[in-house]
Amino acid sequence: MVEVRVRPAVPGDGPAIGRAHVEAWQTGYAGLMPSAFLHGLDAVERGGAWEQRLIAHQRSANANTNDDPEFLVAELDQYGVVAIATIGPERDDRPDRAISGEVWMINVAPGAWGRGVGSVLLQAAVDRLKQRGCSRPVLWVLESNTRARAFYEHNGWTFDGASKSEHLGGRELCELRYAYTPTSPTRDPLGTA
Ligand SMILES: CC(C)(COP(=O)(O)OP(=O)(O)OC[C@H]1O[C@@H](n2cnc3c(N)ncnc32)[C@H](O)[C@@H]1OP(=O)(O)O)[C@@H](O)C(=O)NCCC(=O)NCCS
Repeated sequence: MVEVRVRPAVPGDGPAIGRAHVEAWQTGYAGLMPSAFLHGLDAVERGGAWEQRLIAHQRSANANTNDDPEFLVAELDQYGVVAIATIGPERDDRPDRAISGEVWMINVAPGAWGRGVGSVLLQAAVDRLKQRGCSRPVLWVLESNTRARAFYEHNGWTFDGASKSEHLGGRELCELRYAYTPTSPTRDPLGTA
């Protein structure tokens, strides 16, 4: 049985987050984004950027509000940090939204896929958004990202009808908005219930 632990990201996690982030993109978006763009992603560079972001986030900790992003990592057994999720307010300013909340990104290192890490981390992200007062979290996913869409649909998310075109990795791609609308009790991804 795998043990997944979720906690807020802290300075020092940057390099592992950078690796998980870049590997997840290079594997998960193969065929969906231009390969030159994906191969150009540098885990060390991305890890350094993450580290700077986490240091700045920690420095401003006392001033944090619901408008700020939060970073959650998942650790798996002895492997350490294998996944990152970012949550924050909705990035699209919708006038009809109540207290908004969005899962900005979720990335799991491919070596850890299919073991429940993503499901545990996603549920923790939803729980955190609800604690921030958001009753209806949303996220955006590439229309062509069938693996991620199936993953979200199995975890209580549904396409809510909104779509947009985004310039990603040098290509115009269609993104769909999903909302968290569980119709049944949340499943236990690790089968521990
Ligand atoms: C999409 C993504 C986050 C899913 O992460 P993951 O850790 O593989 O997700 P899980 O393991 O929780 O679930 C995936 C599948 O693994 C299987 N699985 C889950 N728990 C399991 C367990 N304990 N034992 C065996 N298999 C399990 C299930 O088949 C599950 O499929 P289901 O959702 O249809 O039931 C990951 O593939 C990823 O990072 N992709 C690239 C980046 C990306 O697309 N991010 C989303 C952008 S919007």
